[in-house]
This record gives sequence, structure tokens and C-alpha cells, in this order.
Amino acid sequence: MEKTPLYDALTAFAAQHPLRMSMPGHKGKPLPGLDLTGLAAIDFTELPPTGNLFDGGGAIGEAEGLWAEVFHMDSCLFLTGGSTQGVLSALTLACKPGDSILLDRGSHRSAYNALALLDLKPVYLDRPWLAGAGVTGPISPERVEEALAAHPEIKTLCITSPTYYGVLSDLPALGAVMHRHGGLLVVDGAHGAHLPFLGDYGLSEADLLVASAHKTLPAPGQSALLFSNGTFSQADLRRAGSLYGSSSPSYPMMAALDVCRAHMLEGGGEAYRRTADEVVRLRRLFPALTEQDAPLDPARLVLCSPDGYAAQAALQARNVWPEMADGGHVVFIPTCADGKAEFARLEAALGQAALGPCPGYPAPPQPPERVLTPRQALFAPRRSLPLEQAEGQVAVAQVAPYPPGIPVVAPGERLDKKTIAYLTQIGYNTLEDVSVAVLCEAASAPGSRYL
Ligand SMILES: Cc1ncc(COP(=O)(O)O)c(C=O)c1O
Repeated sequence: MEKTPLYDALTAFAAQHPLRMSMPGHKGKPLPGLDLTGLAAIDFTELPPTGNLFDGGGAIGEAEGLWAEVFHMDSCLFLTGGSTQGVLSALTLACKPGDSILLDRGSHRSAYNALALLDLKPVYLDRPWLAGAGVTGPISPERVEEALAAHPEIKTLCITSPTYYGVLSDLPALGAVMHRHGGLLVVDGAHGAHLPFLGDYGLSEADLLVASAHKTLPAPGQSALLFSNGTFSQADLRRAGSLYGSSSPSYPMMAALDVCRAHMLEGGGEAYRRTADEVVRLRRLFPALTEQDAPLDPARLVLCSPDGYAAQAALQARNVWPEMADGGHVVFIPTCADGKAEFARLEAALGQAALGPCPGYPAPPQPPERVLTPRQALFAPRRSLPLEQAEGQVAVAQVAPYPPGIPVVAPGERLDKKTIAYLTQIGYNTLEDVSVAVLCEAASAPGSRYL
């Protein structure tokens, strides 16, 4: 039997029927009109038998240590605010306010928000455009070398791997480049929490790694993990995590992380390997992203379609609900919770969806001129404008259509003619307005900057 120290501590405490004169207000009893008894029984606050996430040690510390072992990392912190909390915490540890950072342009909004909160100066790393597949490829270690040669002051590289489309970057190679330069590799592995149960994907080459248990493992929404190797201690993780996390983290959620690990080691991993086999089979049967396009997460299924939205709608009409679609793809997240019955149902529905080669998308243009820092952009007064009226304006948030799945405009960049033409060409956002900064007249003139 795998150990589940936190879950055991909570259920043992609940079994004592303590008089619960503490948070949460339900006191472990059924909620009026909604029976959550099992959940409520282990929903506690910080008491001696339950421990304290941000103090460290106890059953929580033991449960975190067991997760660290699975990932071959030195330390782990449970997150109850998703990978969003993890990315903010990791960049807070890796960078000092005002530092420059090498950032995957395809980063999630949480990384862009970290730039603003910490006043970081990004040097963006682009990814190769895989025209046939209609997605961006892996981060190239050579491009990282070049960027570090041009910006030797940079000590942190932050990348996403796997991407939403399952594209993996070579973490050992990227880690080696950063470590040779005395820097750190931060990996947003929000979509990769299941990878250690499928093989060695080099995740432990990261100095800091974030993974959303809730995205690909049987774990509840918002549950996620922050890991460190080498430089940062568990106390460092707790200090940074507490900046962005609730001071009342959910015990059922943390216990679910504890039990999830045990489940994965006791049969869940085996089930995941069967799921990966099914994904390989479906990739052969239907037009799909494959290892020939790029190194891929073995469990992510991305099917191609001349009209991804229509394919998604056809599937939804058959009560099959993909994770997302874009103009040329439909993305599915099969997990160890899917068995033979689910795959048979999926396969039957896919036979009815209009799948085929994805339309040729042009490569995203070079990033436009940067006028504001990400911090200035995030905190600038803003207004919304239709895209066609936004030429010359400065974006306060990223404009990130799928494809290409990376921001065409990052916060603080000017929406120029070329960028708007590209967005219009790929059919982006004719309905939604873009958010732009309200600047004084001098700053809004083309060529002028606030930086
Ligand atoms: C690459 C990436 N990083 C971070 C996040 C944030 O994760 P969470 O929803 O767990 O906060 C997401 C969410 O979709 C993501 O796709």
C-alpha cells in the first residue's frame, strides 16, 4: 500500500469526532441541501493534528516529500491556487524585481502577470513555426545560447513544456545551457503533471517546475504542485507560495493531492500507459499532430481539421466535449480516468467529425515595437477598441489567438499595421475588442516610448 500521510492524518482526526469550533463553518456536517459529508469531514483549518502548509513539516510536509520523490526533485509545495500560483511563486524566487528574463513568448498569462508584478524586463524567445502542423515547435537551445550571448545579464529562462498542443522542449539541453551560464531554468509544466508516470521527460532538469495536477491527473480543480531542485529550499517555496496563495488552503484539496499520488503509483500509472497507447492508435486513425511534427506529450491528442470549430461543434452535438478547438485543430485531454468505453465512444464520434489537414496558417509576424514595460502596461488606465480602430495603440494585455497559440501582441507593445493585418488575415477577433492603454498624447505618438 502506498503511503498517504496527510489523508490518513485528516481522516484519523475526523474519526475522533472533534468538536469543531474552528473554520470551516460547516463543521464537517452535511451542508443544507447538499451532502458533502465525506468532503466536509476532512475539511479543517490549521490545528496541531492537521498541520500548516506554510509552516512546513507534519503530515503535509511528508505528503509533499513523497511527491518530490516521484518527480525526482528536492522539494515540493502543494498549491491550491493552480499553476497560476506556481508560476507567480517560481518567478518571484528566480528573479529580483527589475531583473531581465528570457521568456518563452508562448507563456501563459500568469507569467505575463509575473512580469508586471515583479517589474521584469522580458527578452522574448520565439519558437519555430511548424507550418504544416499549424503550431509552434520546441524552444531551441541554440536560440537560448544566442539570446544569452546578446544579454549576458540574464540569469533566468522560463519556458512552457509541454504546450497546450503537447509540444515538448528538450529540458536537459535547455537546463545545461542555463547552468553553464550560471542561470536557472524555470519550467511551466502546467500540462505535464502526468509525465513522470509515463517515462523520463527530463522534468528534473528544471530548477523550478510547476505542474497542474488538476489538468491531467485525477485531482480536483486548482490543485497543483511547485517543485525545486538544488537552489531553492522547501522553505523558499513556502515563502513564495504564501505570497500568492490563500492563508486558508483547502485541506480536502491537499489530501486529494496526497491520495492522487498514491493512486498513480498503485495502478493509475499503468492506466495512463494504456491511455497513451490509445492516443497513438487514434493518431494513426485520424489526421493528427504526431511525433513527426515535434516531440509530443504521449497522452495529448490534437486532431487536425480544415475547420476546428466546426469539428468541435459536431462532436459537442454528439455529447463529446473536447478541451478546446481553434481554426485548424481540436484538442483532447485523455487521462488515466478514460478506459476502453470512453475511447470507443470518442472514436465513434470522431468518425462523424470533419477532420482533415488543417488550413495553412501564415507564421506570426515579428513582435511589434515595445512602448511600455509589462508593468506599466498592466497598471495603465485602459479602454477597449475594435481591432480595426486600434492601430498605433498600445496593448495592455496579450492578444493571443489560436493558432498560433502565442501572443502576437504582448502587453506594452504597439498594435501596428502589420500586426493588425495578420490578425485580420487569420480571422482573429472581429467580435471582441482589444484593451489598450490610455496614454498622454506625447507617449501615444508612433516612435515615442515610456520605457
Ligand atoms: C501553460 C499554462 N500555464 C499555467 C496555467 C495556469 O494553470 P491553472 O489553471 O492551474 O492556474 C495554464 C492554464 O491553462 C497553462 O495553460
